[in-house]
Amino acid sequence: MSATIATKSKLAIHGGTPVRTELFPAYNTITDAEKKAAMEVLDSGNLSQFLGCWMDDFFGGPKVREFEEKWSKMFNAKHTISVNSNTSGLFAAVGAAGLGPGDELIVSPYTMSASAICALVYGAVPIFADIDPDTFTLDPKSIEERITPRTKAIMVVHIFGHAADMDPIMAIARKHNLVVIEDCAQAPLTTYKGRMVGTIGDMGVYSLNYHKHIHTGEGGMVTTNNDTFAEKIQLIRNHAETSLRDKGMSDFTNMIGFNYRLTEMQCAIGSTQLDRLEAYVSERIENCHYVAGKLAQLPGITPPVERDSRHVYYVQAFKFDEAVVGVHRNAFIEAVSAELPSAHLRESTGKLIGAGYTEPLYLQPMYQTLQGTKCSFNCPRYDGKPNYGKGLCPVTEDMHYNKLFTHEYMRPPMTRADLDDFVHAFEKVYENRFDLVSKNGKH
Ligand SMILES: Cc1ncc(COP(=O)(O)O)c(C=O)c1O
Repeated sequence: MSATIATKSKLAIHGGTPVRTELFPAYNTITDAEKKAAMEVLDSGNLSQFLGCWMDDFFGGPKVREFEEKWSKMFNAKHTISVNSNTSGLFAAVGAAGLGPGDELIVSPYTMSASAICALVYGAVPIFADIDPDTFTLDPKSIEERITPRTKAIMVVHIFGHAADMDPIMAIARKHNLVVIEDCAQAPLTTYKGRMVGTIGDMGVYSLNYHKHIHTGEGGMVTTNNDTFAEKIQLIRNHAETSLRDKGMSDFTNMIGFNYRLTEMQCAIGSTQLDRLEAYVSERIENCHYVAGKLAQLPGITPPVERDSRHVYYVQAFKFDEAVVGVHRNAFIEAVSAELPSAHLRESTGKLIGAGYTEPLYLQPMYQTLQGTKCSFNCPRYDGKPNYGKGLCPVTEDMHYNKLFTHEYMRPPMTRADLDDFVHAFEKVYENRFDLVSKNGKH
């Protein structure tokens, strides 16, 4: 246990003085460089140059192309297609992969809802496989168990910024002729065995929403080394059906187009942010290693692994062992949270710490009632019967309801003093943890 351990004192949750009340600094990646880039676009009067017909402007204006090119270089991708969110990028990727009614997409249940919904918009059905208990990414063994003659694709999520185990996943995919889409929303500059995620599978999709490492307000980037997928994503982004004849396309699968276009100003801001992405990522990693070193000294609290991966820490997810600590995770994390304030610009979203992540997706009401999109589940072309019952993914459920906790207090520009306050909150609660247990043993 660290030398800075708090002495016995009343927990804030019981009316004691919290470890800290002064708000933590905001994570704000908008600098003078972004303001200048945005003003240049405003001065040009050209806020978007996309046209939804087959001509040069089909590919957008100069800032769109510059941003895509810069992204391709940094992420080692042959093609990058900007889109107006990761969600729309996932929709476009699933469309490009050709999923339709009767098909299944294997996906992790421990992710943001869009990773699975992208199947439903094309009339296909999400099938949930379990996660690895250490990396929280899809377990290749569980993927293999879920494969049926209807399986068409796998959606791999590099959750929290740690890479999924891509070698066995790609081997399974190639054996069964499945398309692999990587949801890299939380994983910019994450690597797997030295390779950048997002191009190990067939397509990768990044997010530029305002919670992410860098952002353009809303936005997304799709990477691929496959010319056909790139062409289809460009079409789906920009009213596909209007350009097909002029383009001489013969494959019309899923060629209904949308408007997923990112604007000139967002791309100018994104290009500028890209220059500092590595610095933000490195600082997060350094901060997380510091916090991990401190919390690892508390028996029963286990820092995240970094297995074959450069982990870029969108969030830092620890494991909590109730049998060792002696109180349930929920009571413990609630008490830690009471010792800490939120952060500037994030006051409305509350404390940057939570027990669990998202409810396993299959337990959400739509999957439980199968009424959200009747046609996918009850489609005459679908002869499967998806299981969305409790107990479907025991590792995910155990992590979510008992073991895992996440925090985001490591975001730049947190100082060592800020991080120490975070650590002290844990040390204080740990020292006084049995105050959380009432006389009848209940938390
Ligand atoms: C894993 C994951 N997938 C998809 C998304 C959706 O991203 P966007 O908000 O850019 O549509 C998010 C956003 O938080 C995410 O974390």
